[in-house]
Amino acid sequence: MVNQSPDDNPLTRPGPAHPDITDPDIARLVAVFYARAREDEILGPVFNRAVHDWDEHIAQITDFWSSIMLRTGRYSGRPLNPHLRLPIQAEHFDRWLSLFEQTAREIFTPEITHEFMIRARRIADNFELAIGNMRGEIRSPRHSR
Ligand code: HEM
Repeated sequence: MVNQSPDDNPLTRPGPAHPDITDPDIARLVAVFYARAREDEILGPVFNRAVHDWDEHIAQITDFWSSIMLRTGRYSGRPLNPHLRLPIQAEHFDRWLSLFEQTAREIFTPEITHEFMIRARRIADNFELAIGNMRGEIRSPRHSR
């Protein structure tokens, strides 16, 4: 999309992304998503090498999505940092996003799934651009804007 104003960035919008999103549903989304990601042929090897405590990782990511979608402030970390050190490229981001969308669709309405995905795509693109910068590459966002 072109000609967006800065206010179109959902990551800077106050308040819940949608009134029907609940924390228990977010927890279910994250648990199901990571159960699948661990088994996934593209994502699994990266996750299984890097994550040593899955309960802790899932709790942290649940807090992250609660903060993004419901503005609960439960996550105050630096989400980019671990990704800069991972052996990840375009195919990992594409698979991450399609698995996340597939899982969100099973739990939420299409409207809520869309709210998750506009945020997930932006964050994924931010990570991809930052990884590119670090590697001396000039990249364009592939999933958002
Ligand atoms: C390319 C696919 C991705 C892979 C393989 C991946 C993998 C990982 C790994 C291995 C960690 C560190 C876990 C640990 O040490 O316990 C991590 C942390 C994290 N990831 Fe990802 N990730 C990916 C994409 C994403 C995306 C698109 C998002 C958000 C939309 C995200 C959000 C997070 C967050 C919030 C953390 C915790 C950061 C912290 O506070 O330390 N990841 N990820």
